Formats: sequence, structure tokens, C-alpha cells
Amino acid sequence: MKRRSFFAIAFSTTVATSLLASCSGGQAGSDTASTPGATEASPAAELKTLIMATSADYPPYESVDTATSQIVGFDVDIANYIGEKLGYKVEIKSQNFDGLISALQAKRADFVMAGMTPTEERQKNADFSLIYYDAKNTLVAKQGSNYTKLEDLAGKKLGVQLGSIQEGEANKAVKDNKVADLQIVPLTQIQELIQSIKTGRIDAAIIEDTVAKGYTDTNTDLEFNVIPSDGPSGSAIAFPKGSPLVTDFNRVLEEMKANGEMEKLVKKWFDAQAATPAPSPS
Ligand code: ARG
Repeated sequence: MKRRSFFAIAFSTTVATSLLASCSGGQAGSDTASTPGATEASPAAELKTLIMATSADYPPYESVDTATSQIVGFDVDIANYIGEKLGYKVEIKSQNFDGLISALQAKRADFVMAGMTPTEERQKNADFSLIYYDAKNTLVAKQGSNYTKLEDLAGKKLGVQLGSIQEGEANKAVKDNKVADLQIVPLTQIQELIQSIKTGRIDAAIIEDTVAKGYTDTNTDLEFNVIPSDGPSGSAIAFPKGSPLVTDFNRVLEEMKANGEMEKLVKKWFDAQAATPAPSPS
């Protein structure tokens, strides 16, 4: 199946409005010290804009809301909250996951939020915030497959997202001769992995737990099992090397943990059952 190799959707958020209302004299931005990555804003724009690059194939972290065509999700809410606190407008651009670090290096984005794990390799080319959410790897496959570890996939075809830590994990399993005759199939987007399992092009795919849960809930012919993995995990925000934004973003992330905002967003996006936010653990 041939897919568009690249898609880009840019949307502005509206967090600017409330901030502007509270600014005196409408001079916001002009007296702000030169901010990294601020775009060539039109003269009328009051707030500096930060470009967030993501790969919107990863619900509940980020995906395109079919009703509104907006990119929504856990990462988007966090980004908007941080933007509002720091006085930036956040503009979101979606692209393929495997090009996100390059987008930072090429200064096409001020930061990346894409459920991205801070690995040693990536840290050579980007700086990371603290980890704001953790995840586990799973194997997604057709109902009844019951794959619970990579070793169950001897002689099988295993899908992974191109450029992901899951691809790294699969390659390592082959290199270490952990699984006999494993064939790795890297695909650009998570939806392609799901589709390929359904059609039998691949036998399974490594996908993180919360994302796997969402896709298997809506595709009842599929199942997932958490697998043991020893690699890095968790999501952090990525910045161009040396970006002064890291400290400010970390400060707001800490605030969000302390004031219950993070807990609220975790409930909203990862625990659909919990209609009312529970009090955050102290
Ligand atoms: N956490 C994994 C990684 O950093 C997968 C992230 C995939 N994210 C996405 N938006 N598709 O490699």
C-alpha cells in the first residue's frame, strides 16, 4: 500500500487570546528578550510562536481529530499549558516520526513532543526535558496469537515504526541472535503497522502499551501483550541542542506535577473511564 510519505498539518492554538487579555497595553512580545526559534511573526501578532513538531499517528499522545481536523492529545494539552505559562503561542506541525530530530537540527521546529523517548543516541543531536510519562512495549497481533515475548516470533515478520526505539529493540534482538529468523519490517506510521497486521503482511508489531490499547479497542480482531524490554522508556520533550527553553519547560513540567495538572491530563487521555479527576496523590 502506497501512502503519502510526508504530511504536514499546521494549526495554531488559541491559548494566545486569554494571555493577551491580561497583558497591559498589548505590547506583549516586543519587550521579551530575543527568544530562540520565534518565527517571523506578522507585526500584528502579539505573542511569539513556538513550532512544535510531532507525528500525529500516536493516540492518545497525538492524533488528528477527524471531526475538527485538529491535532489533539496528551502531548498537545501539555504543550499548550506550557506555552500559556511561558507566554508563547504554540503551532503544531505533523510529519513522519523518523524525521523529527532532523527537524530540530534544521531549526524547522523549536521543540518536539511525540511520545519521544530520550535515548543516548538521540541525546547526541537533541536536548531533552525530564520524562513526563512512562510506557511499556507490547506486541500487537491478531486475536489468539498470544505472543508475550520477542522469542515467540521465530521465523515471523515483525513490524516496527521507522526511527523508533521499538525498531532499535527489534534490530538488537536480531543482532544478539535472540530470535531465530526474525524478519523486521519498518513502516512509517503506526496505522500502517495496524493495517499490516490485519492483512497478514506482518505477524506482529512492537507498540507502546497505551497506544496499543487504543488501537486494539477499536480493532477487536487484534490483541496486545506487554513484553519484557530492557531498553529506555518514557516520553520527554526534545529541543535543539543548547536550547534555552529546556529550563523553562522543565520548570513548568515540575509545576504541573505538583499542582495536579499532569494527573488531570493523564486521567483525561489515558483513563477514559475516570470521568471525574481523582485527587492527586500527595
Ligand atoms: N517512544 C517511542 C520512541 O521514542 C515511540 C514514539 C512514537 N511516537 C509517535 N508519535 N509515533 O521511539
